[in-house]
Amino acid sequence: MKVLVTGSSGQLGSTLLKQLNGSDYQVKLTSRRKPEGIEHLEWVYSDLSTGEGIEEAIKDIDVIIHAATSPIKNSKIVEVSGFKEFIGKLHHIKHFLYPSIVGIDEIPFNYYQQKYKAENLLKNSSIPHTIVRATQFHHFVEKIFISKPLFKRYIVPGNIPFQSVDVSEFANHLIGLVEKDPQGRAEDFAGPDIMTLREMAELKININHEPNKVLNISLPGKLYKSFSDGKNTNPIRKMGKITFEEYLLNKRV
Ligand SMILES: NC(=O)c1ccc[n+]([C@@H]2O[C@H](COP(=O)([O-])OP(=O)(O)OC[C@H]3O[C@@H](n4cnc5c(N)ncnc54)[C@H](OP(=O)(O)O)[C@@H]3O)[C@@H](O)[C@H]2O)c1
Repeated sequence: MKVLVTGSSGQLGSTLLKQLNGSDYQVKLTSRRKPEGIEHLEWVYSDLSTGEGIEEAIKDIDVIIHAATSPIKNSKIVEVSGFKEFIGKLHHIKHFLYPSIVGIDEIPFNYYQQKYKAENLLKNSSIPHTIVRATQFHHFVEKIFISKPLFKRYIVPGNIPFQSVDVSEFANHLIGLVEKDPQGRAEDFAGPDIMTLREMAELKININHEPNKVLNISLPGKLYKSFSDGKNTNPIRKMGKITFEEYLLNKRV
């Protein structure tokens, strides 16, 4: 069984390749930047926005885990039009795994709307596929909201709840689906706890003995409301075990 991981230089992709390394699967990787320390693995350059290298990447592949994404630059191309061309070439694929995000059909955020279109492209295709939506990764929430204090303040929309999940657990879940029957839209994979951003920031400050404080802000608009309403969470799918606290503690070791 030969598995292709797209987006192999990204957070999910690099975690997938670590876990697949040494497995019984033949592994092929693709991205534009070559990940470090993978000399023993097959890697090919490909670019979803131009189509360059795609044919070579998908040659002889049975299963694809599609971890390539571009939330900001060329988002519409990478997530939708380039993606459509990409999946149009996948007649030989036995299983296409598409990591998606909890709540994308209810949160009016451009990147999520592009991903929802991609989900629908897959649904309407004849490609055997599984779409699994996860909640935000621990490191992602930390990086976006609580990594750069301004004048010793984390300025955050503190009432927004997150149910962040460890990327390693989600990667492991996806690998576990490789040989299962394609499920169409599978059950969500959400983190173990729901915490507000303020609680997450305060936890980080305590654990790291930081001198920072939290400054809570509210924002107007539908986007803020949908996050505040917890559309990005799924309380009945607490699948991850590693808590945000454990993630922070592990980083200190
Ligand atoms: N981050 C989260 O919290 C989260 C939560 C749930 C689900 N997800 C989903 O998980 C997947 C992976 O997310 P991630 O956070 O690991 O993303 P990431 O760290 O931003 O990695 C994205 C990958 O896509 C590649 N890429 C970007 N533009 C490309 C292009 N034009 N052609 C080919 N490859 C391109 C990047 O590599 P190069 O730049 O080297 O090409 C990189 O390897 C996405 O589908 C995302 O929606 C993420």
